Amino acid sequence: MRMAATMLAGLLAAVAPAAAETLAPWVVLGPAGAVVRTATTEAECPRIRYDDFDRPMQVRVGPWDAYPHTVCEAPLPKVVQRVSFAGRPVPVPKAEVRRVVILGDTGCRIRGIFAQACNDPTQWPFARMAAAAAALAPDLVIHVGDYHYRESPCPMPGAGCEGSPYGYNWGAWRADFFDPARPLLDAAPWVMVRGNHEDCRRAGQGWYRYLEPRARPVDCEAFTEPYRIAAGGLDLVVLDSAHALDRAPPPPLVDRYRPQIAAARAMAKPGSWLLVHHPHYAVFRFDGPERRPVETNATLLAAADGLGDDPFAVVFSGHIHRFDVFRFAGDRPSQVIVGGGGTAIDPGLGDGPDGFRIAGMPVAERVSDKGFQFLLLEREGAVWHATLHDLDRGPVRRCRLEGKSFSCPS
Ligand SMILES: [Fe+2]
Repeated sequence: MRMAATMLAGLLAAVAPAAAETLAPWVVLGPAGAVVRTATTEAECPRIRYDDFDRPMQVRVGPWDAYPHTVCEAPLPKVVQRVSFAGRPVPVPKAEVRRVVILGDTGCRIRGIFAQACNDPTQWPFARMAAAAAALAPDLVIHVGDYHYRESPCPMPGAGCEGSPYGYNWGAWRADFFDPARPLLDAAPWVMVRGNHEDCRRAGQGWYRYLEPRARPVDCEAFTEPYRIAAGGLDLVVLDSAHALDRAPPPPLVDRYRPQIAAARAMAKPGSWLLVHHPHYAVFRFDGPERRPVETNATLLAAADGLGDDPFAVVFSGHIHRFDVFRFAGDRPSQVIVGGGGTAIDPGLGDGPDGFRIAGMPVAERVSDKGFQFLLLEREGAVWHATLHDLDRGPVRRCRLEGKSFSCPS
């Protein structure tokens, strides 16, 4: 009898609904402007307050499988001055963007036997980084991709990731992104760039539910068109490179990306920044005794071959988990990589051969730094001053973006 009662109590606990929850909102910029989103386990989407009136949010996608929430959204019209949600202020786009935080590659890597100590904030410091970046009061945040890294179970006791959720589901998204990013989601609207961790073999479903700024396709789409964002005097073009292979791309894949790069370039205005997860013009490592440069990304380089001059002022990327700058001797935008956002750091690049080239053009200046780092850019007229913030060492580099030159003299 007692056993039956215990079993019944367990059964009731298993089927009883968990307490309903509605997440704090986040704001994503896209080609049609800003959109505010939340996710709720309530039956209906909540309302959002614009200045002196409120309106219902719309369903972006309902609950499904391992995603228990309905994701809700509402556009933020430019005329709206103040937005609040459940009594708390929602960050709205600034008329003039003067302070930009860039970071990328933020999740806690657990894959097979490789496990980062997700439970140790010194080993996986994304929550600390989000708080530190939020304290700098950015007008805009750019995430250059790779949000979701908890792909398999914590492999062994003592690894520092015990109890971590994993897989392509809400629990892993919450642990890798939504909980640690909260202070920075509260601070400013975000531009979300899609990484290869959000491709259709990995966390693509979550990407389209929560972060992709445009309409959600019925199923995961491998390729999306580039788009342009006008953000308070700053002009951005976003290129989705989620499926671009680092090495040996088959010709049909190169052919798929060529018109995308051409379309992105056609959107560029003077001073536009290109945001693309995979670096367009970079060296991943130097190989062998001659220190031969291993160029990346092979897909993007092959796809751009023959397209002529690159009109962007700078290319910001992630994918490589460190800070790298490649400034060129010719008419090509500098490549900046900001990939030290929390995921296990990659080996340093080390010394290269004298006078090496990337895609045929000499590199005039190269900087490489290792650590958990993000970049703050501050506008002064036509110049952007960039400071590389290291979580352990404070500001470690000061750089300057002017024209097509991103230079770090200190
Ligand atoms: Fe990546």
